[in-house]
Amino acid sequence: MQKLIVGNWKMNGLSADLVEAEAVAAGLGDAAVRVGICPPATLVERMSRTLAGTLVAVGGQDCRAEASGAFTGDVSAEMLADAGATLVILGHSERRAGFGETDALVAAKVEAALRAGLEPIVCVGETLAEREAGRAIAVVTGQVRRSLPAALAGRPFAVAYEPVWAIGTGLTPTTDQIAEIHAAIRAELVAVLGDAGARAPILYGGSVKPANAAEILAAAEVGGALVGGASLKASDFLGIIAGA
Ligand code: 13P
Repeated sequence: MQKLIVGNWKMNGLSADLVEAEAVAAGLGDAAVRVGICPPATLVERMSRTLAGTLVAVGGQDCRAEASGAFTGDVSAEMLADAGATLVILGHSERRAGFGETDALVAAKVEAALRAGLEPIVCVGETLAEREAGRAIAVVTGQVRRSLPAALAGRPFAVAYEPVWAIGTGLTPTTDQIAEIHAAIRAELVAVLGDAGARAPILYGGSVKPANAAEILAAAEVGGALVGGASLKASDFLGIIAGA
């Protein structure tokens, strides 16, 4: 199946950085992968215009569950779609940890994404303390079970396994550890969503770089990558895409 490689720019990027997204689109050639970039909300509309007609999709990094209302500072799924996004990252560990996002809230946001016609990328992952306590599989499968509403069946979506301790640290799990968690996520997806759960890509995220991308992307059940720091420069991101 076609791999999905998504860049998460996090809170990085000004208008001058749109040239990096353009360079990614220009450098793709006829790569047999799906590619997306999720810039900060301020750049979603301009990046969508810049990349119109290219093979690179644009996404948001979060959304509010409600469509509109008195929610100062928030952005809805409908607003992201209106700005040209087709993807949205939900439940990133930086939001779960920094903003107290629960699995139930993430599930409500997933429903909002579906309502707006966006393809959600739902993030799960254990902390180092949870892994060291032997609880990685239990934590991750629990997040999958509670964050993914039944409404996802029949709709395009992806899950991203991002071990918290591997994000921005340069540390990565071994390919065996990645394959073990991805297999557990796949089994949980099938248990929750049936056939629809058998097809959704499971991305790996956490310190993916050009140097380790090919090995990670070749691991069993790894359907792509969610890339933070190395997605900010086109040359690095294209190097990762080349590994798919
Ligand atoms: P890094 O690739 O910078 O480790 O970030 C991963 C991530 O959090 C992507 O969502």
